[in-house]
Amino acid sequence: MPLLNILRYPDPRLARVAKPVTAFDDRLKQLVADMAETMYDAPGIGLAAPQINVAEQIVVIDVSESHDQLRALINPEIVWASEEKKECQEGCLSVPGIYDQVERAERVKVRAFDVDGKPFEIEADGWLAVCIQHELDHLKGRVFVDYLSPLKRRRIKDKLQKEERERQRERERDRIAGKGPLSRRER
Ligand code: NI
Repeated sequence: MPLLNILRYPDPRLARVAKPVTAFDDRLKQLVADMAETMYDAPGIGLAAPQINVAEQIVVIDVSESHDQLRALINPEIVWASEEKKECQEGCLSVPGIYDQVERAERVKVRAFDVDGKPFEIEADGWLAVCIQHELDHLKGRVFVDYLSPLKRRRIKDKLQKEERERQRERERDRIAGKGPLSRRER
């Protein structure tokens, strides 16, 4: 199974609004499996389809330390959120190396479908609640840095754009030198 390339902020494709999944077929199952593999490899605790350039409402999450509690949420929807809020330090596979405080609802109830199209509900608190809200934001084209101040956002953009230019130069050098990519995924 291939590892998928993760888009990096401020790639405009991260800002697209994802469409609902309409076919619960083998393609969806394969995509979910590839997303899970990509998430574990990164490593991360959640990945949303827009991050791998698929504008569909698909999220994979595993906040367990043992990496054996994978959940796939298809067409998820938050149906209830607690009034109590909590600040947590968040990061994102699309915003590498950046962590900052974001305020979210402390508890949420989410309704979604599994890969077979069977509906289910999760009532979450702690890390799972944070992760669900973070990943569902991706489906609306929102990244956690959108909650930060314009000044912080500008600094993050500048830093990541500079890194991206360096990565491109490196790839170009490797190409000219006739070297293949060093790993399965472009880094
Ligand atoms: Ni993220």
